[in-house]
Amino acid sequence: MTTDLIPFHRPFMSGNEARYLQHALDAATLCAGGAFTARCEALLVAHTGAQRALLTHSCTNALELAAVLSGVGPGDEVILPSFTFTSTATAFALRGATPVFVDVEPATLNIDPAAAAAAITPRTRALVPVHYAGTSCDMTALQQLADQHRLWLIEDAAQAIGASYKGQPLGSMGRLGTLSFHATKNLGCGEGGALLINDPDLVERAEILHDKGTTRAQFRAGRIRQYDWVDLGLSAPPSELQAAHLLAQLEQLATVTQQRRLLWQAYQQALAPLVQAGLLQTLHVPVDCTHNGHIFGLLFADGGQRDRAQAALAAAGLQTALHYQPLHLSPAGQQLGRAHGALPHASTLPGRLLRLPMWHGVPAAVPETVARVLGDLFGGARP
Ligand SMILES: Cc1ncc(COP(=O)(O)O)c(C=O)c1O
Repeated sequence: MTTDLIPFHRPFMSGNEARYLQHALDAATLCAGGAFTARCEALLVAHTGAQRALLTHSCTNALELAAVLSGVGPGDEVILPSFTFTSTATAFALRGATPVFVDVEPATLNIDPAAAAAAITPRTRALVPVHYAGTSCDMTALQQLADQHRLWLIEDAAQAIGASYKGQPLGSMGRLGTLSFHATKNLGCGEGGALLINDPDLVERAEILHDKGTTRAQFRAGRIRQYDWVDLGLSAPPSELQAAHLLAQLEQLATVTQQRRLLWQAYQQALAPLVQAGLLQTLHVPVDCTHNGHIFGLLFADGGQRDRAQAALAAAGLQTALHYQPLHLSPAGQQLGRAHGALPHASTLPGRLLRLPMWHGVPAAVPETVARVLGDLFGGARP
């Protein structure tokens, strides 16, 4: 039975991947910093308006780079939502800083600006909002908080390529932003990511830290005869193979985003009667946000209902997925970080969350099937 399931996710393929990979192989020099890397980075700059985009091996890798750039270390605190992937926290914990987990807003599962404000101490150095599901956090409030307390604002936009807030692309509003091109994202290259540098004063150092602490970027640009080791460094640039695959995907950003948004709207429409009947909730998108259809999430009354819904959808041939466990309750989160306040939403909502199939090419009948199955399961509220 399982093999017949409509999967929760299937990576998008533009059709140009194999051709671009062959070009990269023909060029023979597969190391980082070639033509495909340059084209990907230029597309990301054009799309986001960032001062500079640097490809990385993953969003985790980009967050690690951001952590080094921000200069946080032992004794410093970094505020982030508890409901996120481990990398948002571990990148800063690796520098010796303490992740401080705060609650999320129940409607969006994005960081609650009031909870972030309440967690600020004289040791706070950075604020790391996560744009869950490709829906923006309240960037007006977070920007104000960062300005007022002179904090580094670093956007974890792992899920957010193609999405915006008041017309500004996500990842372009903090001093730094990070993107993921993992296979599960809207666009990907298996494993990949990017650091967006929005503050021009950070560009030169970011290029140095990105490439093993060396001035190799200046050497490549022909500005110096030899490069030198001048700072701390990571080995972050991916090979041209990853960049070739990624370019074939990035070129289709508009199409993929539009298709995913259409599917998202179809789910929203099909499930509206169940939402109105109070049987479930869908994740909210505030009016000033343009989401990218990364996730369609349902919140049930409790974990038991969520699990029954997942089983019923599986029986109808649809694979669904859960998501993050709250980090403040995880063993490493408790050891390496601390929670501020009670975090009622981050503690309970993940146990009620279910994600529906979301990828470029989900059959058109799926939203109606979901609505029918869930309507039958929870009281016959048929669309
Ligand atoms: C919010 C968030 N941040 C960071 C990451 C890490 O991304 P990557 O797998 O590219 O390292 C993920 C992965 O799903 C994520 O959801």
